[in-house]
Amino acid sequence: MHKTLARLYRDHLNSNRLMDILEGQLEVLKFTKPLPAKLMSEIVSYVREYTDKIHHPIEDHLYQVLLARTDRGHDEMEELLGQHLIVVDLTRKMLQAVDSADGGDNDSIDRLIEAGRELISHQRNHMNFEDRMAFPLLQEELKDEDFDIAAGALPDDEDPLLDPNIATRYPELFSYLNKGELMV
Ligand SMILES: [Fe+2]
Ligand SMILES: [Fe+2]
Repeated sequence: MHKTLARLYRDHLNSNRLMDILEGQLEVLKFTKPLPAKLMSEIVSYVREYTDKIHHPIEDHLYQVLLARTDRGHDEMEELLGQHLIVVDLTRKMLQAVDSADGGDNDSIDRLIEAGRELISHQRNHMNFEDRMAFPLLQEELKDEDFDIAAGALPDDEDPLLDPNIATRYPELFSYLNKGELMV
């Protein structure tokens, strides 16, 4: 498997782990004081800063090459490209919900839980579909040069969760992760 495709799979493992953490935080939100706003914001910021800006553009490039090269998976690729746009909107809503829930009233916490669940569900379904359908198709149809070009067209940013500077960029997440298991 090309290292770019392996990286996309690894990104999904890390993102799924973050969605699990976010889900756990949402489940206890009504009983948690103070609100774990910083941790939740950092997780959503990660989705904006890494998933939206690095991970999705690599996939977008690969899906476009696939669309140009074969009729296989045409509708599915279009669907996935559209889902990348939806997540931008969901993260924006989620960050707003975290901000407005900071006061701790029940209605704003309910809205935060709803926004969080929507983001988690979208992300999980999206990644699951890519893992099962889109990535195997990329593996079958694309050449090594396609993967090289897709990764080379973007800054070579590594997953910030694997960056030694994670403690500076995402301090709350770093300390949370250090209490439990580390990322892959
Ligand atoms: Fe994607
Ligand atoms: Fe993905």
